[in-house]
Amino acid sequence: MKKTSYILGIESSCDDTAAAVLMDNVVLSNCIANQKIHKSYGGVVPELASRAHQTNIVPVVQQALSIANIDKKQLTAIAYTRGPGLLGSLLVGSTFAKSLALSLDIPLIEVNHMQAHLLCHFIRNENQDPPTFPFLGVTLSGGHTQLVFVKSHFEMKQIGKTLDDAIGEAFDKCGKIMELNYPAGPEIDGLARYGDPNAFDFPIPKVDGLDVSYSGLKTAFINLIHKNQSKNPNFIKENLNDLCASIQKTLVKIIMNKIILAREKYNLNQVVIGGGVAANSEIRKVLDEKARQDQWRVFLPPLQYTADNAAMIGIVGYLKLLHKKWGTMNQSVSARLPLS
Ligand code: KG4
Ligand code: ZN
Repeated sequence: MKKTSYILGIESSCDDTAAAVLMDNVVLSNCIANQKIHKSYGGVVPELASRAHQTNIVPVVQQALSIANIDKKQLTAIAYTRGPGLLGSLLVGSTFAKSLALSLDIPLIEVNHMQAHLLCHFIRNENQDPPTFPFLGVTLSGGHTQLVFVKSHFEMKQIGKTLDDAIGEAFDKCGKIMELNYPAGPEIDGLARYGDPNAFDFPIPKVDGLDVSYSGLKTAFINLIHKNQSKNPNFIKENLNDLCASIQKTLVKIIMNKIILAREKYNLNQVVIGGGVAANSEIRKVLDEKARQDQWRVFLPPLQYTADNAAMIGIVGYLKLLHKKWGTMNQSVSARLPLS
């Protein structure tokens, strides 16, 4: 009989210090220390992020072990984010993971953050079975926008990407123009609920193939705001809900067009979404409607696994443990780690 495994997952690629404990594919704890410090700067300050990870990492890991009711001596392996991400942030998590694995004399497993955003769908979920291979993976986050042909757990090929800003970055930048707090995605989503998505019209950029572009839309948004503000200084305040609903609709439409194209081109009937923007209510609604209408399946992650978290690192640790894919102590982190 297979022995039960206990995996500690550690995520520190950007501004969230996270730790989780999994018993095989079941999440026992999933803890996150968000770094509030970046709010006042309107974006993540790498140097401050690394320092905050150093402050947070020990308490977050202790909390994850305590909620899981696991002693560190019971751990089978430690999985950590090797990249992509901010170098200083990755170094804190990886150094901690290596030291702990060394002191406990247990295997270390390196995890690709972008693979983890998609593989979070393999965490046991009573409401939904995991997808089957092959499928179309779509990662929508603050740093990435990727369309991925997923052949197996660890064979992933990028087939489309953003040529400039990521979708989450575009949400955040448009939010900054409207003087919303960083990260603005969740607030735009909330405000859009009470607005008219057809109040303002924005162009859909013409980009060949499966790539997308978001920087032109951001410029169109700035131009619209400046033009109207010169006539009415209260333009943003008086139109905030409509502005949010209209820009959100366009941001979602740009990626939806490419998801539909990619699915048809590669003849895939399962679309698996991951990343912070997967929490967006508009994209969830539009994907659900389109999947039902055209008879394909969409896999939307439970909200707790959309933004950066360590449960998704832990599940990759478990899958790699099954495939005996160990990391090594001399493996260095990589800010630009490729997808596979
Ligand atoms: O995956 P994630 O937590 O971090 C990265 O790896 O980048 O994604 C963070 C991004 C931010 O840009 C944030 O504004 C966006 O996800 N986000 C949202 C929503 N929740 C988070 N964007 C739109 N609607 C949301 N509900
Ligand atoms: Zn992420």
